[in-house]
Amino acid sequence: MVNKIKLSGQIKQQLPAELVNFMQAAGKIAASQGQNLYLVGGVVRDLLLAKANFDLDLVLEGNAINLAKQLHQPEAMKLTTHPHFGTAKLQWDRWSVDLTTARSETYPQPGALPRVKPGSIESDLFRRDFTINAMAVHLNPTHYGELVDLYDGKDDLEHKLIRILHEKSFSDDATRIWRGLRYEQRLDFHLEAATLKLLKRDISMLATISGDRIRCELECIFKEELPEKVLRRAEELGALARLQPSLRGDGGLAEKFREARQSSAPDLPPIALYLSLWFYHLNSAEIEGLVYYLRLPKRVAQPLSDTIKLKAGLDSLADPGLKPSRIYWLLHGFSPVALTANWLASEAPIPRQHLQLFRDKLRYVKSALTGDDLLKMGIPPGPKIKEILHHLHEASLDGKVASKQGEIDLVKGCLKGSPSPPT
Ligand code: CTP
Repeated sequence: MVNKIKLSGQIKQQLPAELVNFMQAAGKIAASQGQNLYLVGGVVRDLLLAKANFDLDLVLEGNAINLAKQLHQPEAMKLTTHPHFGTAKLQWDRWSVDLTTARSETYPQPGALPRVKPGSIESDLFRRDFTINAMAVHLNPTHYGELVDLYDGKDDLEHKLIRILHEKSFSDDATRIWRGLRYEQRLDFHLEAATLKLLKRDISMLATISGDRIRCELECIFKEELPEKVLRRAEELGALARLQPSLRGDGGLAEKFREARQSSAPDLPPIALYLSLWFYHLNSAEIEGLVYYLRLPKRVAQPLSDTIKLKAGLDSLADPGLKPSRIYWLLHGFSPVALTANWLASEAPIPRQHLQLFRDKLRYVKSALTGDDLLKMGIPPGPKIKEILHHLHEASLDGKVASKQGEIDLVKGCLKGSPSPPT
């Protein structure tokens, strides 16, 4: 049953003209070949919500790679094809279009990747996660803009509901549990009552999902505006405990995430910082277990382990009388993520003060004189140069010198045989 609601107006208003022209041209070619082309998924949802989304998914009842090749203009966009999956991507500088052959899916067993075969738009929509993501817009000229809404997705959007399409949805693919929480919290919607019940029933199916796929879901969550909302809800519904029983989604997490965003603005905090804050209260064995299970890449695992190493050594920063140079030497080898995470998450006031001093000031302190300057002052090349530079740096950190001339006087003093350079 094809709903006759038309979205041509929203398409024209909300999408860049270049993309609209592209879709119309694609629809014409598809029609000339006797095929149907549709805009599908998240972008249709976002058109109806008037939210910007320029990453288009197109589904063709026909060979998507052939169509992509016909549409490809090498001077304007890049084409990538995946013949094994029957998919193609056209990428402009600022947006992209995925083209896929309409397909149906069956799950050989829960959590496994589905078996796919070419299908109709109806079967392609039925394989999707939620009604609000299972709408399409016809792009062929004679039906241009018509909404295909077989599962009342538009109605659910209006009632702010996240609803699965069939009873086995979460057990087929338990990543939908995480996806459902993400959409619910992003859009300020609710899981529809029967969907919520099935989600709770199937929460144990999360164990059927590989760590890789869960990591991808977490990466998506940490790109959300307020990931803490998703984690809080995941704790409430028992999804966090399935990942690691000691993980928490509330407490002071929201506050720490907010501060992390402030300290990273205008960029999003790196995922390593979010994870460091989230995992901060776990013990090393628990963290190692998560790093292994989620197969965290080195660029994330390394700052995370640095955070935990620094946390374990925070006692050495607890003396209020520490000289700035000592604070510097204790902290200078740690990654920015480890410093920020400990500063935000530690409860120990003196180490926090010292971390703040290091982050705000000490890490930027440099001595004015360089090795070249010392050579010009007549100091012979060799280890002495390094030693003097080290002492100059310490003197700057501890506020014993504050100008180039002060440093020159200090070096001259050393050379004249003053008992020893300042420490
Ligand atoms: N999809 C699905 N089940 C999944 C993953 C994806 O049904 N496990 C479908 C949904 O229809 C979704 C579309 O594939 O809308 C595209 O997936 P994705 O890019 O992850 O979602 P979007 O809705 O496009 O993007 P976002 O989640 O960021 O809004």
